[in-house]
Amino acid sequence: MQVTATAPGKAILFGEHSVVYGKPAIAVAVDRRAQVKIQKLDNTEDNTIQVKVKNPPLSRCIDLKEDRIIPEDKNNQNGILDYIFKSLKKVNQEDGIEITVDLKIPLGAGLGSSAAVTVATIAAASRYNQINLSKDEIAEYAHQVELEVQGAASPIDTTISTFGGIIYLSRNAKTAIPLQINWDLPLVIGYTEKPGNTGKLVESVRLKRKAYPEIINPILDSMERITENAREALLHGNQKKLGDLMNINQGLLDALGVNSIELSNMVYTARNTGAIGSKITGAGGGGSIIAFCPNKLEKVVSALEASENAFSVHISPEGVQVNVDE
Ligand code: PMV
Repeated sequence: MQVTATAPGKAILFGEHSVVYGKPAIAVAVDRRAQVKIQKLDNTEDNTIQVKVKNPPLSRCIDLKEDRIIPEDKNNQNGILDYIFKSLKKVNQEDGIEITVDLKIPLGAGLGSSAAVTVATIAAASRYNQINLSKDEIAEYAHQVELEVQGAASPIDTTISTFGGIIYLSRNAKTAIPLQINWDLPLVIGYTEKPGNTGKLVESVRLKRKAYPEIINPILDSMERITENAREALLHGNQKKLGDLMNINQGLLDALGVNSIELSNMVYTARNTGAIGSKITGAGGGGSIIAFCPNKLEKVVSALEASENAFSVHISPEGVQVNVDE
C-alpha cells in the first residue's frame, strides 16, 4: 500500500504579531503544497524509517527505537525532519517504511512549510496505519507537533493547512471560521532569501510593548480593528478597502519594528507597479510580503523578480488531501 497526502502552505493576510496578544487574524491557504508519500520498504529486515526530501535534497533515517535521526545534525538543526519525526510518533507509526517529501513551498519564508509538512505527514501516516482522524484531530495533532518542535506557535498555520480556504481566527484563537468569498483574490508573494526569525521578532515586539505600553497597545488594538474591517471587506468584495487596510497594517508592522529594507523595497515596488495593497506577511524581519494585485499579477511578479523572488498565488480551497494506492 502507498499513501500520499498533500497540504497547502499559507499566507497571513492580517493579524501577524497582534495574534500573539489574543487579537483576531485572517489567513489564506495558497496553492503551493507539501506532498508526503509513505510506502513499505522493500527490505523487510530494515527496521528504520527512511526519509527522502526532494527539495532541498536531504536523506535521513529515523530510528524510532533509539529515538533519533541518523546521521545526527551536530547543530541540532534537523529542519523539517523534526516535524516529521514528531508527527510519526503521534500516530504510533512503526518502522519499515519510506517517506518521500516533495515541498513546493519555499522554506523559512513564513509561508507555513513546516505546518504543511506536519499536516500532510499526520494525514498520510494515520491513513497508512488505518487510524481514522477527523480534520479537527489532524489540525490539533499538527498544532501539538509545532508546539513540541518550536516551543511556541499559534494554531493559525496548522489550521489553515488542514482546512484550506480563507480562515478568520477569532480573539484568543477560540474559533477558526471559514470565510466564504465569491470573488477572485489575485495575490502575489514576494520573498527574500534572507529568512526572518519568528521567535526573535515576537520577542522584540514583546520588549517594545513592555517599554512603551501606552504606545504599542493602541497599535495592537488598531490591528484588531483592521482585521475586523478586512473581514467585512473580504465578505463584501470591497477591493479598495482591502488594499487600504493592507497598507495601513504595513505602517503599523513597521512601527512595531518588524520591517526590513528588503521587505520595504518589495512593498513599495509592488505598490508602484499597481498593487492596491501590500504588506509583510508572517513575522517579518526577512521572509515574505503579500500584495493584492487585481489585473496586475504579472506586472507585479516581474517587478519583484528584478531584485527578489516572487510568484502569484491562488487560494487553495482544498486543505489536506489523502490518496491511497493499494
Ligand atoms: O512567519 P510566520 O508565518 O511563522 O508567522 C508568524 C506570525 C506571528 O504572529 C508573528 C507569530 C505567531 O505565532 O502567530
